[in-house]
Amino acid sequence: MFKKISSYSVLAVLVIFAMLLSACGTAATEEPAAAEEAAPAESMEEEPAGEALAVGIVLPTKDEPRWIQDETRFTDALNAAGYNVEILFSQGDSAKEKANVESLISKDIKVLIICPQDGAAAAAAAEEARAAGVKVISYDRLILGTDAVDYYVTFDSNAVGAQQAQYLVDHATGSGNPLYLYAGAASDNNAFLFFEGAWSVLQPKIADGTFVIKNSSEAVALQDTAALSRDEMSKIIGQVTTNWDFNTAKNLAEANLTATTAADKGDVFILAPNDGTARAIADAFAVDTDVTSYYVTGQDAEKASVQYIIDGKQSMTVFKDVRTLVSDAISAAVALLQDTAPESKGSYNNGAADIPAIQSAVVTVDKDNVQSALIDSGYYSASEFTGLE
Ligand code: BGC
Repeated sequence: MFKKISSYSVLAVLVIFAMLLSACGTAATEEPAAAEEAAPAESMEEEPAGEALAVGIVLPTKDEPRWIQDETRFTDALNAAGYNVEILFSQGDSAKEKANVESLISKDIKVLIICPQDGAAAAAAAEEARAAGVKVISYDRLILGTDAVDYYVTFDSNAVGAQQAQYLVDHATGSGNPLYLYAGAASDNNAFLFFEGAWSVLQPKIADGTFVIKNSSEAVALQDTAALSRDEMSKIIGQVTTNWDFNTAKNLAEANLTATTAADKGDVFILAPNDGTARAIADAFAVDTDVTSYYVTGQDAEKASVQYIIDGKQSMTVFKDVRTLVSDAISAAVALLQDTAPESKGSYNNGAADIPAIQSAVVTVDKDNVQSALIDSGYYSASEFTGLE
């Protein structure tokens, strides 16, 4: 499923994208050549690129740094090509998401890039876009239950969970290690992919006694099942969901720590689904006097979590280079604007159709490679952190 585009082709894509947006921007208002010739030279130079909005972007929430990363990277990529594309946030509300999509449709977009707040609820917005002749790119999260999705651009979410779990496995010795499981929001298909990937690595190590699950009776009941069905995962996720919310994560971790005894603590291992929830959960475990040490996973390489990793408060994150996701999305938008099929490396079934897809690889980052993976790669600058060696 993995297809990476080089920075050279990213540049080429941006140039083509600029040309296409320019074409879209002028198509509606195209004047006879004579009128153009009559226009003063400077007004031609000033002509704002992409005046008619060709691409609209809808992201889930401003309240999580992950999606601000995406906003920033979209803005950087599109500004570099000389365009402003409207980016709207749904603020965790599917009704607002639908209103955002409708607003963009009314502005005559040709391609919608949307990361659904709720995968199933977003089907209606996707169908509205399809009915208006707008191509729909599902971004990072899959829209479920409709064939009105033209393309899916994402990371290898199964690998995210598998890498988180592998990190815990690699740092566990002996047997009987306490394991605390946490998951994302059940309305997000990715939460299932992350959990599925994590379970594939953790389950054999639960079965052989390396880990003992401490906070989910549903997971304990299923601990001998190597591959879980979606319904089985739903049962576990229902019990350990953070709903992608920091406060929910913190409250759940505190409730789990209250419900368990000192014997369930000591050196603990925590599967936390992403960075925001990892920090909240880590803070709760850090203040429990019966917890001697903890390993906690994350994902997104959010700045605050990179600092936590440098400070030894979070063990790892899974770096998902949003620059790649953004360039893949732009690349797909360009193809769809040209009425051609974006290059796909496989497909995801969303319950209604096989959606052609492309996915990018992800990288485990901990204290040992934070410098090379995140600073030397140019993703962040060293000055954004303290205590980097
Ligand atoms: C994304 C993660 C993000 C999470 C919470 C998931 O769908 O893939 O990167 O941390 O949602 O917003």
